[in-house]
Amino acid sequence: MNDFQFQNPTKIIFGKDQIKKLADEIPANAKVLMLYGGGSIKSNGIYNQVTEALSKFEVHEMGGIPPNPEYEVLIKALDIIKEKNITYLLAVGGGSVIDGTKFISAAAVYDGDSPWDLITRQKPVTDGMPFGTVLTLPATGSEMNSGSVITRREMKLKLPIGGPGLFPKFSILDPQVVYSIPQRQIANGLADAFTHVLEQYTTYPAQALLQDRFAEGILQTLVEIAPAIMKDNNDYDAAANFMWSCTMALNGLIQKGVPTDWSIHAIGHELTALYNIDHARTLAIITKSLYTYNLETKKEKLAQMAERVWGVTEGDTQEKARAAINHIEDFYQSLGIKTKLSEYTEDYRGTAEFIAERFTERGMTGIGENKNLAPDDVAKIVEMSY
Ligand code: NZQ
Ligand code: ZN
Repeated sequence: MNDFQFQNPTKIIFGKDQIKKLADEIPANAKVLMLYGGGSIKSNGIYNQVTEALSKFEVHEMGGIPPNPEYEVLIKALDIIKEKNITYLLAVGGGSVIDGTKFISAAAVYDGDSPWDLITRQKPVTDGMPFGTVLTLPATGSEMNSGSVITRREMKLKLPIGGPGLFPKFSILDPQVVYSIPQRQIANGLADAFTHVLEQYTTYPAQALLQDRFAEGILQTLVEIAPAIMKDNNDYDAAANFMWSCTMALNGLIQKGVPTDWSIHAIGHELTALYNIDHARTLAIITKSLYTYNLETKKEKLAQMAERVWGVTEGDTQEKARAAINHIEDFYQSLGIKTKLSEYTEDYRGTAEFIAERFTERGMTGIGENKNLAPDDVAKIVEMSY
């Protein structure tokens, strides 16, 4: 097991009708800016629950944060923050709204030339305006981590930002929000959380027995509840297990003491930036090719996953590893998610070379747990995903 430090300061308030506890979590004299997305919270009643809970606070609002939160939209919040002397941010939404709020939190206290520098300078963010979240879509884990991914559409860029200053102070997780989520987004949430575990587990053995069992437990739970929540998103128990699995998949716990990969995500973000494909679906496009390409270095963990998550008993390590790759693809497909780039765009030729060039320009010349996937390897993996 590798050495590690672990600190996660986010308070989780989980369960039915917990949104009303909002007022207990925000400092009494705070001036709040509530941030949300395209309006789903207005039709499903979450907006009313939040405004009611905050009736004693001075609350301003900014909606319109789009999926894959867009820099040009987010920086508009900075004017409101200045003008209204905002002291506290509240994200009400899925990963996009929460990620966008994290960026606004960092930008609100940044005194450099342009907020965009926060992203390009690639330094951990240590300071931000305090914020909490009301999660409306289980998927990313953003409600309990300090990461964020920001899009700048006119440059076709989607880049990460994060650091210890960007943990939410609290997050309210009421599984009943799942009742209004369209099936496509539920499938995305399941696939995204599943792949988060894969990125932190499917590397090489690190004698971290407990971390492996945590990771396998989340994978098994997602596989177990997926049919129920896909069939009926009003099933509270399935929704609760779905929600908590998504949070636990990316709150830092399972990555402690183990190597992590994250190359599926790095490549996937490029597909969203280029073709606007939903985040989770980009991961489903890349996973099989990446694991097949890296079979030799990943086969022990893949075989262990085959045995423990899917009960595979037949075959040697190599065969079990291949069985795991097929099970992963079957899982994505069982959610109605297509796993080839050509199923999303006709315009895919040249993508491999384009992404490889971008990685070279950015100095991403060795990615993955062994830091040995060069841009040429990335090109081959993307081409295998056409
Ligand atoms: O915009 P609104 O109207 O709210 O509608 C949203 C949006 O259209 C809708 N939705 C959310 N909650 C709903 C709902 N519709 C009905 N009922 C509800 N209760 O769902 C759509 C998608 O929302 P979005 O927030 O974009 O989805 P998700 O949570 O999957 O977030 C994706 C973003 O998070 C980033 C992704 O790259 C992407 O930009 N990620 C963030 C991570 C992190 N911070 O740790 C890690 C992830 O790997 C990921 O990269
Ligand atoms: Zn993800």
